[in-house]
Amino acid sequence: MDRKLKIGFIGLGQRGAAYGMTDGSIGLLGNVLKNSDDAIVTVICDKYQERLDAAAKKIVEHGYDMPMQTQNYKDVMNAGIDAIIISTSWDMHVKVALEGMKAGIPVAMEVGGTHSIEDCWKLVDCYEETGTPIFFMENCCYNKDEALVTSLVRNGVLGELAYCQGYYCHDLREEIAGGIDTHHYRLKEYMEHNCENYPTHELGPIAKLLNITSGNRFTKLVSMASKAVGMKSYIAKNPKYSAPERLGNAEFKQGDVVTTMIQCENGETVFLKLDTTLPRLYERGLTASGTEGFYCQTTRAVILDDGTVDHEMTSYKDMFHTQDNYDRYLPDDWRTITPEQIKAGHGGMDYIMLKHFFRCLKGNKPMPIDVYDAVTWMCVTALSEQSIAQGCMPVEFPDFTRGKYKTRKTVDTMDYPVIKE
Ligand SMILES: NC(=O)c1ccc[n+]([C@@H]2O[C@H](COP(=O)([O-])OP(=O)(O)OC[C@H]3O[C@@H](n4cnc5c(N)ncnc54)[C@H](O)[C@@H]3O)[C@@H](O)[C@H]2O)c1
Repeated sequence: MDRKLKIGFIGLGQRGAAYGMTDGSIGLLGNVLKNSDDAIVTVICDKYQERLDAAAKKIVEHGYDMPMQTQNYKDVMNAGIDAIIISTSWDMHVKVALEGMKAGIPVAMEVGGTHSIEDCWKLVDCYEETGTPIFFMENCCYNKDEALVTSLVRNGVLGELAYCQGYYCHDLREEIAGGIDTHHYRLKEYMEHNCENYPTHELGPIAKLLNITSGNRFTKLVSMASKAVGMKSYIAKNPKYSAPERLGNAEFKQGDVVTTMIQCENGETVFLKLDTTLPRLYERGLTASGTEGFYCQTTRAVILDDGTVDHEMTSYKDMFHTQDNYDRYLPDDWRTITPEQIKAGHGGMDYIMLKHFFRCLKGNKPMPIDVYDAVTWMCVTALSEQSIAQGCMPVEFPDFTRGKYKTRKTVDTMDYPVIKE
């Protein structure tokens, strides 16, 4: 397809349209408007009129025609668009995606877990019945650090992987409590559920490293939740929220720190940590351990078993930033990115992710993060909720590929270089 894709946006909150954001972020809408040669936004949808008004204003200010606007997502399906971008609350992702896929409109769906294994199967069945492409927008798979470690692993630099680890550590106390004014969905989620509620930022890149759904699969998990004291303490300290008619009497089910261990069919294990309601710095902590080396995102270190590191004596501090030596492993997307594109969201990964989605659609190519990846990563939320509720019992993963993982090939649209040392 030579012309620009016509996009319908559903969900115009913080992520969709940077609604109410004061940190300079532009959201997915701003990203498409500012940077894409591939797409224009012709339809927008949100439950709230003021969010529609703000997004429409932005679109017109960027020199585009006034988009069609609606508060009913079903209207978007009949509006002559080429793709839908879904950035609603988690509970609506699958409902909207199914509606789009049944109408034959390719879907890009924001990240988040699901509480329902049944919903995962619905998504798989709908994809298999309709063949409508669905892309799971796990932007961390396109981040520079994750691209580097993926390239190192694809090039065999770390040897055979045995273990990976990742975190979603992000102090979200203000976002959660603030939901009482902003309608943000996290407030209800944290009151009603206790689970690994946001697994995919760390698990997506790890699943790609371990060839999950293409040669390997997750077999079982065990989750454990700490007590839930962070939100109560935050609210009690904060006069904005502490009145009884505000959140003073609110109860939260969600444990402050949830740890999850996953076993893979090929023998690797994965450790995940969710830590969002205690004071802390942001950290994803991606770690990969193999027979020839170790990668750690937190220290930005690559440590190889080649005699250059004295494993007993070298201090933690000396290991910082060693990954700079490995830039030659980066794919072209990260060599050619412009400062403007880097500013377009999360340090550039949003721009690269959307570019890959649009190019796959235009070229009729398979999605690099497809329905099987999406449900395999999202279902961790439902499985961890079961495990915690059953006193940390192991829970089996469904095989959403129905055996196809044995022969499926990984789709890498990032062109990882082949380095011959
Ligand atoms: N990939 C990332 O880096 C990243 C970052 C932040 C958020 N997210 C994801 O983006 C999504 C949205 O998060 P957010 O923080 O913007 O939430 P938000 O609450 O600010 O925005 C969600 C929007 O969806 C709208 N909405 C909900 N149900 C709807 C419906 N039935 N019809 C139309 N509109 C509806 C809401 O009115 C709201 O404006 C989540 O899935 C979240 O996990 C991803």
